[in-house]
Amino acid sequence: MIPKISIKTMIPGPKSLPKLARIKKINGGWNVPYPFVQSRNGVGCYVADIDGNVYLDFSSQIGSNPLGYNHPDLKEVLRRYASRTPIKIAGQDFTCQEHIELIESILDVSPKQFNAAFLVNSGAEAVENAIKVAMRHQKLAKFGVSFENAFHGRTLGALSCTNSKAVQKKHYLSLPMKRLPFNVNAASALQDLIVREAAPEEVAFVIVEPIQGEGGYNIASKEMLRSVRQVTKAHGIPLICDEVQVGLGRTGEWWSHEHFSITPDIIAAGKALQVGATIANRALFPNEPGALSSTWGGGHVLDMAMGIQTIKTIKKRRLLTNCKRAGSYLRKELGILGQTHLAMQNVRGIGLACAFDMLTPNFRDNLVMEMLKNGVILLGCGTKTVRVIPPFIITKHDCDVFIGKLEEALKKTVQKGFKHTGPIHDYMKVSTRISKN
Ligand SMILES: Cc1ncc(COP(=O)(O)O)c(C=O)c1O
Repeated sequence: MIPKISIKTMIPGPKSLPKLARIKKINGGWNVPYPFVQSRNGVGCYVADIDGNVYLDFSSQIGSNPLGYNHPDLKEVLRRYASRTPIKIAGQDFTCQEHIELIESILDVSPKQFNAAFLVNSGAEAVENAIKVAMRHQKLAKFGVSFENAFHGRTLGALSCTNSKAVQKKHYLSLPMKRLPFNVNAASALQDLIVREAAPEEVAFVIVEPIQGEGGYNIASKEMLRSVRQVTKAHGIPLICDEVQVGLGRTGEWWSHEHFSITPDIIAAGKALQVGATIANRALFPNEPGALSSTWGGGHVLDMAMGIQTIKTIKKRRLLTNCKRAGSYLRKELGILGQTHLAMQNVRGIGLACAFDMLTPNFRDNLVMEMLKNGVILLGCGTKTVRVIPPFIITKHDCDVFIGKLEEALKKTVQKGFKHTGPIHDYMKVSTRISKN
C-alpha cells in the first residue's frame, strides 16, 4: 500500500455502508462508529478502509496506536506468536514470561519509586485498580477527589471520577466524590475540603490527568499540579496520575507528569501500552492474596508482547524525540494557520498531545467531517476542541500533508451557510459522537 491519502468513493463507501448498518443494529454500545470499516491494511500513519480509501490517521485509534499501521517491529512479534494458543491465559494465577518482561519494561521507564505494577485489560480497569490500591491505604476513606472535566473511564469506580459529560453518568450509581477546579485554585480547594469536610485520612485519593483528554485537552499549569502534590503529600493522601491517554511517550517524556516536576503515588496507564497497568510502589499494593486479581490481567500474551516491543521500539527509534520535534513543528504550523483563520484558536499541547479550539462546536464538527471527507481522521473532544494526536512515527511530510488539508477544510467550512449533507453527515452529525473518550 502506498502511504498516501486516496479517497475513491463517497464516505461511507458501498462496501462499508451495509456493514455499518449491521453493526448499528447489533452493537450494544451507544455510538455509531466513524463512517467507514477499517481493513487493517495500512502503513505508517495511513490506513485503508474496506472500500480501498486510504486515510491519514491523526487520531491514532484514540491514542492507542503509537507505532502506526503494520510497523515492522510489531509484525515480527506477530510472526513469533502465530503458532500457539491460547493467546490469553489466566495470568494472575498462571504467569508467563511476557508478564514479567512487560512489568520490568514499564518500571524501567518509570521513576525509581515505582517498583511494581498490576496488569489489567483496559485504561478504565487501570484506574479502577488505582482507586482500590489507594483505598486499601486510606482505611477510613469516605470519598475520592477528582477534577472538573475529568475523564477516567466508564467502569463504575472510574466513572465516579469522570466528570466530563452528563450522558456518560446518567442513572449510574457513583462512589462518593468531590471535585476540584482544574486551575490554580485546586490546592486551596483541596485544603478547604480537608479543613471543613473530612480528616485527611478520610480522603481516599486525588486523581488527575495532567493533560485532560476527553475534557478538552486542557493542560494543567505547573503551579496547579505542584501545589496539589504538596497538599496530598503533606497529608498522606495518595495522588493518582491518569496517564491512560497521553502516557508512555506521547508528550515526549515517558509520563506526562514528568513535565510538571511532580511524582504521583500511583500511575494508571493503558492505550499506547496495549494493556492496562496500575503502577505504584510495592508497599502500596495490598498484601493479601486475592485483594487484586483478574482472570486475564497479566495474561493477554500477545498484547503484552506488543507492549514490550512498543517500549523497545520507542527507545530504539528515538520516538520520544520525534514526539517532541513533530509536536513543536505541528504547533508552529497550526499557529500560523490560526493567524489567518480566526475561527481556529488556542493552539496548544506538549509533544504530540496537541489540540486547538474552533470558535463554536458546529465549526468544530464541520471541520472534523470535512477532514474525513478529504482523507484525514481527526477526533474532537471537550465542546469545541480538535485533538491532533498522530502516531509517534509521524514524519514532517505527513505533518505538511495534514496542514495542507486542514487549511483547505478551514477555508471551506467557516464560510457562511456551510453545511454538510449526505451519509457522512448522517453518521457524524451528533457532536458528542465525535468526542467520545
Ligand atoms: C485519561 C483516560 N483515562 C481512562 C480512560 C479509559 O480507558 P479505556 O477506554 O481503555 O477503558 C481513557 C479513555 O479514553 C482516558 O482517556
